[in-house]
Amino acid sequence: MTSLAHQDTRQLGGPLSILTRQKRDHERLDRLLQQLDRSAPGIEEQATLQAIARLVFPHAFAEEAVLWPAARRVLPDGEALTLQVEQEHQEINELWARLEDLPSGTAERREVLEKIATVLREDVRDEEDELLPRLQDALGVRRLRLLGVAWEAVRRTAPTRPHPVVARRPPGNALSAVPLSVLDRSRDALDASGRRLPHLHARTSRASHRLASVAGRIEHAGPLRRGEDPSTHRD
Ligand SMILES: [Fe+2]
Repeated sequence: MTSLAHQDTRQLGGPLSILTRQKRDHERLDRLLQQLDRSAPGIEEQATLQAIARLVFPHAFAEEAVLWPAARRVLPDGEALTLQVEQEHQEINELWARLEDLPSGTAERREVLEKIATVLREDVRDEEDELLPRLQDALGVRRLRLLGVAWEAVRRTAPTRPHPVVARRPPGNALSAVPLSVLDRSRDALDASGRRLPHLHARTSRASHRLASVAGRIEHAGPLRRGEDPSTHRD
């Protein structure tokens, strides 16, 4: 078993393989986390955080909807391995949700940002050094490419913001995909316009908060909370 970090694209199964796609996103995340370290509090930090959220949340959502169910089917200890990663995802969702209430530039916000970066890096190491190489040993290149295509299709339409209350497993997470993705992506567009056009900021931010409370109500719908392990379930 070799870490993804020490394999080239050919060894990972080519550009379509789930392993190549995962490693590419993880490398991009590392660059964005370095950029976050250099970002000034305020608009610059917000823009970098939005870029990270738009990478991380659809990536993790598609893992939970497509990849980890496949890992549980083919790996004898798939349940334990995927649960550990789901718990990390849950922690990132909860930390990120806290950011909304912490003003830019405060010590508490900096602390939460550092913790988010630490958990994200641990999550990448657990996937690249353990879970994904195990999947590589269990599946042929053809299956790795099919999984890559399925994961990419879900990732492109998945929610882009934290939703700590929604189930981390099907069927709950699958049911939440369409409504939450539409709301998240509308909020992303509003927030980006507010940063670009400061005279509209108050209006776009009010509209974004209204959509956030709609998303909050949808998250609590019973069917969207079904299917996950009790350790990642939140009230
Ligand atoms: Fe990943």
